[in-house]
Amino acid sequence: MALSNDAGRADGRRLPARDRIIVALDVQSVTEAQKLLDQLAGRVGYYKVGMELYNALGPSVVEMVAGRGGKVFLDLKFHDIPNTVARAAEVVTGLGVSIFNIHASGGKEMMSAAAQAAAKRAVELGVSRPMLIAVTVLTSMDERTLREEVGVGRPIEDTVVAWSRLAREAGLDGVVASPREIRAIKLACGPEFLTVTPGVRPAWAAANDQKRVMTPGEAVAMGGDYLVIGRPITAAPDPVEAVERIVAEMEEANQDESSL
Ligand code: C5P
Repeated sequence: MALSNDAGRADGRRLPARDRIIVALDVQSVTEAQKLLDQLAGRVGYYKVGMELYNALGPSVVEMVAGRGGKVFLDLKFHDIPNTVARAAEVVTGLGVSIFNIHASGGKEMMSAAAQAAAKRAVELGVSRPMLIAVTVLTSMDERTLREEVGVGRPIEDTVVAWSRLAREAGLDGVVASPREIRAIKLACGPEFLTVTPGVRPAWAAANDQKRVMTPGEAVAMGGDYLVIGRPITAAPDPVEAVERIVAEMEEANQDESSL
């Protein structure tokens, strides 16, 4: 089994632009997934495998992506008691995923148990440990839902920042963040603490159901490390051309940022 979990840790902003792109593999069939993987081979850093594809195909989807040279961000958002999450972290480390995520709302002990278990299993297997990323407040939640249904009374941004800090203290590598949250998170947790950002839309792409979007250039200029991009690439008439346009935009924004 391929164990390509070279996570390319540290400040993602030092990586080449294409290595910072995570393509959301939100497709329904193996055939569609394979077609995209073949088209995009060597052009992007990672592929995000979510609950839908993973629950449909099982762990073989990770092997399928790795077998075509792709690195996997396994987006299963673990949330359970520390022991259970730690065991799951061991398993996905053994599968060879490069990034996986857990809910920060599971608490520091849960996050820390997962981080330690993944690191330990990676050492046992002689591979790099996967990057472990926390999910803070789901962007589908508004302040009212958070307060009245979930019982978290703080404003959303304060909660995002507090849970990001907690994730850093627990030894996680970063958080999933809306582009608008990047600055506050970097300020609170330091530049090395990674942000993985969905809701990215090039100016030339349809917003689809995303409400508060930023272009790849804006997300890079905000200090974002990794960008999760789905339909602007996967639904484009020419996915390769779409990736190359996005890479060019990110590189331009990076130059602007470094020349400041
Ligand atoms: O196609 P699109 O670029 O909108 O895909 C974005 C991906 O990121 C999807 O897999 C979506 O589920 C995920 N995501 C998101 N917003 C979040 C968290 C995850 O769009 N807040």
